[in-house]
Amino acid sequence: MTIQQERSRLLTVADYQALAQQRIEPVYYDFFAGAAQDEITARANESALRELCLLPRILRGSDTRQSSVSLFGSTASMPILLSPTAFHKLAHPDGELATARAAAAADTIMIVSLASTVAVEDIAAAARAAAPGRDPALWLQLYLQPDLEFSEAIVRRGEAAGVRALVITVDSPVFGHRERDDANDFHDLPAGLCCENMRDGKTGQVRQIAMSSELSWKHIDWLRGITSLPVLLKGVLHPHDARIALDHGVDGLLVSNHGGRQLDTVPATITALPEIIDAVGGRMPVILDGGIRRGTDVIKALALGASAVGVGRPVIWGLAADGEAGVRGVLELLRAEFDHALALCGAASPADLTPDLVRHY
Ligand SMILES: Cc1cc2nc3c(=O)[nH]c(=O)nc-3n(C[C@H](O)[C@H](O)[C@H](O)COP(=O)(O)O)c2cc1C
Repeated sequence: MTIQQERSRLLTVADYQALAQQRIEPVYYDFFAGAAQDEITARANESALRELCLLPRILRGSDTRQSSVSLFGSTASMPILLSPTAFHKLAHPDGELATARAAAAADTIMIVSLASTVAVEDIAAAARAAAPGRDPALWLQLYLQPDLEFSEAIVRRGEAAGVRALVITVDSPVFGHRERDDANDFHDLPAGLCCENMRDGKTGQVRQIAMSSELSWKHIDWLRGITSLPVLLKGVLHPHDARIALDHGVDGLLVSNHGGRQLDTVPATITALPEIIDAVGGRMPVILDGGIRRGTDVIKALALGASAVGVGRPVIWGLAADGEAGVRGVLELLRAEFDHALALCGAASPADLTPDLVRHY
């Protein structure tokens, strides 16, 4: 089949996933698709979204809709962001450069992973070149490294590259236990690839990412003190932690369970969201990721109080299926599905999406 024929059959995120599975090494497919232990949470993310019903409003009369959102000084043309995911060069040789170009062309925010296989500076340059004159928004995800001097060096690299926010992943005091990777004996990048953001500026050596169970709110205070960039915490599920985050001057939260890749059997993110929204009480934006595969999933998350959603695996499926065009395809597909569902819900913009539109029957 020609690529054109293949493209015309890519109608859903699931179609991209099926093609991605054909295109990449089974070991890498398992790395991207897999999750912790029994993968209960990973499945729950998707099924909990599907099980919610939408209760649309009628006759509210608007034939113009707008989907853009503004978050921490960054605007996105739709409330669908790219969650940070590691190792894009395992999905496609262009890696994060292709992803960044597609995100910039779609005019949405890419959260660059600390574990990207391209340096943040090069990702930023690719994004800028893909959207001349528009200064596309990149945020940088970090696992705070216990060597704070090194953590600070990464923050400074991000600032110099022009990232507009820092996303600190706090659900990973230790690595998740992914049994598909154990079965495949996959624990590291193949020769020739590395986590470029972990390169030590002094020695030129690439360090291993350290997960640290010593990290505490003191480290968030430290980060707050060294940068004026907005700081978001990613991986918050407990409403009490959401309240503590407010006390520590955190600017935003990402309700996430790491796509089910850390602690298995935690709730689906859509299930955890309402309590977090309640705890935050409108004092900071809350983003959700995990299991978003359809425009209707985006509608449900926004109706329940999220300001935007992130997508992780769908971006990887696009990248593996068709490089930059594939990522763009996935983003445009989700944009179109979201807009269509917005119309069918009788809504003209994300602001019209209210909790009464979602029911659990
Ligand atoms: C292959 C893969 C790699 C990931 N790498 C990171 C990472 O480096 N940093 C991080 O904070 N989250 C990482 N995540 C979690 C995502 O940011 C996001 O929370 C999750 O993928 C959302 O669920 P979804 O894949 O169902 O959309 C990764 C997820 C996947 C699937």
